[in-house]
Amino acid sequence: MSKLNVCVLFGGVSSEHDVSLITAKGIIDNLDREKYNVYPVGITKDGRWLMYSGDSEGIPSNSWLKEGRKAIISPDRIDGGLITDDGLIKIDVVYLALHGKNGEDGTIQGLLEIAGIKYTGAGVLSSALCMDKAMTKVFLGGFGIPQAEMLLFINKAPDDMVEQVEGKFTYPVFVKPSNGGSSCGAYKVRSREQLISSVNSAFEYDTKVMVEEYINAYEVECGILGNEETNAGSLSKIVIESETYDYETKYTPGMAFNEIPAKIPQDKTQEVVALAKKIYTCLDASGYGRVDFFMEKATGKILFNELNSLPGFTPFSAYPGMWEDKGVSFSQLLDKIITLALDK
Ligand SMILES: Nc1ncnc2c1ncn2[C@@H]1O[C@H](COP(=O)(O)OP(=O)(O)OP(=O)(O)O)[C@@H](O)[C@H]1O
Ligand SMILES: [Mg+2]
Repeated sequence: MSKLNVCVLFGGVSSEHDVSLITAKGIIDNLDREKYNVYPVGITKDGRWLMYSGDSEGIPSNSWLKEGRKAIISPDRIDGGLITDDGLIKIDVVYLALHGKNGEDGTIQGLLEIAGIKYTGAGVLSSALCMDKAMTKVFLGGFGIPQAEMLLFINKAPDDMVEQVEGKFTYPVFVKPSNGGSSCGAYKVRSREQLISSVNSAFEYDTKVMVEEYINAYEVECGILGNEETNAGSLSKIVIESETYDYETKYTPGMAFNEIPAKIPQDKTQEVVALAKKIYTCLDASGYGRVDFFMEKATGKILFNELNSLPGFTPFSAYPGMWEDKGVSFSQLLDKIITLALDK
């Protein structure tokens, strides 16, 4: 079999640019060179596309910014690849090592659909839907998926915002922007004063703000691999040293870790896996994704939180760890994700 040409796309204009560089290095280091010719292409923070053929260490250390040469995905299907100053490079599959805005939200997926080039992970609609938490929740409500009760405010807090919230919930409540990421603009709220300031602050991140019942819970995550047929990796439980899984907790070493496999009762594991597969299918996800749940401490009740369509993917992230625990190495995981992209 001839080798496949794989373009690894990384960086990007999102706030998760730096995480993407680490993701990309891990992927580039672990793609089997017997099977793939690898073409790393980085998108700078201001949106320039640069192909970088140096050492993978130069990605997180940012030497790709100096050494990279212009290379762009052509939307022309006959081109079917990258246009560079030295000519055209045909691409069989784009491996998306991006995270967040313009990587995870259906926009780059749209460009690749127009270009007629296969790519890893979910398609346009599914990516866009999963990026927007409120949309995801409203959509899944139609399938009877259990989730936290929510009030949704659009553009600004209405005059009777406090009455609506206090009529539906008792404090504490949880406030978050619909398009957030990394817990920015998300708050546990204990009083009317905090509610008003938190909602206003959340509106600085997005035009849609959600107020949810506060769920006192363990957070359990399920990695899914597949298109129509799906498989689940071992579950992960987030063990934290602080009260909420906020930005600081997420990115301060030692404050949070993933317990894999999650130490939860057998029947709960089965419930989470079955629900994760159902949600993945309802949201039309493909390739791979991570479905996050709350397991309520008092009752054991399982509630859906969100689906990450391009989950954290450094060799140390939870998602690859969930498969490692099942005997699938990082390299083998990349093979499977590429095969799923080609099969779509
Ligand atoms: N209703 C809720 N009750 C209690 N805690 C919540 C609730 N919603 C969110 N949280 C807490 O806030 C964290 C971030 O929320 P969420 O996962 O929805 O947002 P995020 O900003 O997309 O985070 P990321 O994409 O980085 O996982 C959750 O992991 C959880 O700890
Ligand atoms: Mg989350």
